[in-house]
Amino acid sequence: MARINDNYLKLQAGYLFPEISRRVTEFTTANPDAKVIRLGIGDVTKPLVPAVLKAFHEGVDDMAKGESFHGYGPEQGYAWLSQIIIDKAYKPLGVALKTSEVFISDGSKCDSSNILDIFDLSNKVAIGDPVYPVYNDTNVMVGRSGEANDKGYYEGLVYMPCTEENNFSPAFPTEKVDVIYLCSPNNPTGTVTSKEQLKAWVDYALENDAVILFDAAYEAFITEENVPHSIYEIEGAKRCAIEFRSFSKTAGFTGVRCGLTVVPEELMGATATGEKYSFNKLWNRRQGTKFNGVSYPVQKAAAAVYSDEGWAQVKEVIDYYMDNARIIREGLTAAGIKCFGGVNAPYIWLRTPEGMTSWDFFDKLLNECHVVGTPGSGFGPSGEGYFRLSAFGDKEKVTEAVEKIKQKWGK
Ligand code: MLT
Repeated sequence: MARINDNYLKLQAGYLFPEISRRVTEFTTANPDAKVIRLGIGDVTKPLVPAVLKAFHEGVDDMAKGESFHGYGPEQGYAWLSQIIIDKAYKPLGVALKTSEVFISDGSKCDSSNILDIFDLSNKVAIGDPVYPVYNDTNVMVGRSGEANDKGYYEGLVYMPCTEENNFSPAFPTEKVDVIYLCSPNNPTGTVTSKEQLKAWVDYALENDAVILFDAAYEAFITEENVPHSIYEIEGAKRCAIEFRSFSKTAGFTGVRCGLTVVPEELMGATATGEKYSFNKLWNRRQGTKFNGVSYPVQKAAAAVYSDEGWAQVKEVIDYYMDNARIIREGLTAAGIKCFGGVNAPYIWLRTPEGMTSWDFFDKLLNECHVVGTPGSGFGPSGEGYFRLSAFGDKEKVTEAVEKIKQKWGK
């Protein structure tokens, strides 16, 4: 009989969001008339903007004609899309990249998981706590973690607690690590890493020969100055960092699928015999073998995000979501609930009322207010006693949810 990958059995429970769906389905089956407001998974609710939709349609129409039909595209994405991203998203930040350093993909969830293919299992990995669960679980799946202890920490991973005491900004690991995941604006806490803090991380990584995996999926939601949109705004980062970006939340592509990963040519790792080797070459090789690229119409749609018209329309939607974030943050704060994030990110991280556990609050909120959120403990042990609300909902429903929470728990 074929052996399974036993590492999967070390995963603690179902993936967080399917578990939430399961509980919500159970509730709606038992209460078919309840109108549930979903502020759980960070899934967008606004449709694609007109300029993007037009380009998407044109891409599909191109596929209908022999002269403009596209078969397999480059596994790394079309160079025209990479060039647009470089010109529109990186040049204004003072970051120069080559198209050979930008890899278009079907999203940053996949990329931040698949990237583990190009790192040896012996690398010591540090992740935040709480954290986007994908970083933790994929390291368990590949066999880097060992077993979890009773708190939920895996013995083979290094955790960097992000708590109210440290303003949700992790301290440097206390032991030598080779790979560090950072996410700013942060999912789940909605907080950000300032330029000074990110510079300290880059300096640390360079000094310690570590690679930073920088998840910038929410950079388009930054509203304040002095918050870096890209790690490459920091001197030296090209020698120590890989960056992930996504069209999912920025432009409503959660169901369309497009993202990108930047692997600078300067970024080197070591072979088993100690010679330097390019991570860019490895990722290129990995994508060439395991990925067949993003569909042509999707890449056409993604390019339209950066047209003048497309960006203005996309920005309007981002502003709409960020106004939701403000409504949640201000409403709950006024009701005496301690809130974090929501200024440069579409997530509000709140302390659960009455000292409830995260899942107790989830159940109460669902059963008594018909509102769905995400339990903080699902993002890691330090998330216990916290809760995440997403700002991606419809404004009327978001406002209604805030009112219900205020009525129930407001002081
Ligand atoms: C979230 O809710 O954390 C995100 O939607 C998950 C994701 O982007 O995969």
